[in-house]
Amino acid sequence: MRKPFVAGNWKMNTDSHSSVELAKRIATDSCEVAGHRVTVAVCPPFVYLQTVAKTLSASSIGVGAQDIYYESKGAFTGEVSAAMLKDIGCTYVLCGHSERRHVIGETDELINKKVAAAISGGLLPILCVGELLSERKTLQTEEVVKRQRKKGLAGWSEEKVSAVTIAYEPVWAIGTGLTATPQQAQEVQALIRKLLEQMYDGKLSQEIRILYGGSVKPDNAAELMAQEDVDGLLVGGASLNADDFLAIIRAAV
Ligand code: PGA
Repeated sequence: MRKPFVAGNWKMNTDSHSSVELAKRIATDSCEVAGHRVTVAVCPPFVYLQTVAKTLSASSIGVGAQDIYYESKGAFTGEVSAAMLKDIGCTYVLCGHSERRHVIGETDELINKKVAAAISGGLLPILCVGELLSERKTLQTEEVVKRQRKKGLAGWSEEKVSAVTIAYEPVWAIGTGLTATPQQAQEVQALIRKLLEQMYDGKLSQEIRILYGGSVKPDNAAELMAQEDVDGLLVGGASLNADDFLAIIRAAV
């Protein structure tokens, strides 16, 4: 039985005051379910990670970074290492989010190094995969997701891969208001689980959580969560509104 997992990706939003207020509200109003019935995490911008982590330290809400660099230290201007993230209380890190792939230009190879650095640094990576609209229209979804998952986890033993959560986020559904139908999400997520089964053992593939992300809202969360292979939700826009995010957490239980 996979415990549901709801993560909020705040992207480049909030400020020093609103990030703490949002975190407090989520922690207070989800305390009856967060931790034991549903895993909850928020991913604030780097600059607010430490204050949000402190705010949430007595709660069951995890804190995640939106990105990481794969080197441990040195002359890498602007980058942040796994050790730094651990040091300030991070548990999770998003790797290969579609905005990093398609806006910033990250490759599968770079993302693989980031997943590797996260795991060796004791963080739990959330590896994001998903196809562009043009790729869906030309029936390449399976191929794209297969490649991103394979390359993202390349070189990792079963033991290491057990630290990973996968998030299927069709790029055409992110921030567009277009959600994949529950059936579309289920179809791709079942495929991801099958691919994991082929690469690792059956037990591990049954244990790894696969989240759906892309215009998740309080009114579509329950239907998405009802799908067998949708184990949780990665929420962007709706995670910035405490009432909406709390409603999504409750729908996932
Ligand atoms: P959205 O973003 O919920 O605003 O579509 C999801 C994500 O990018 O993780």
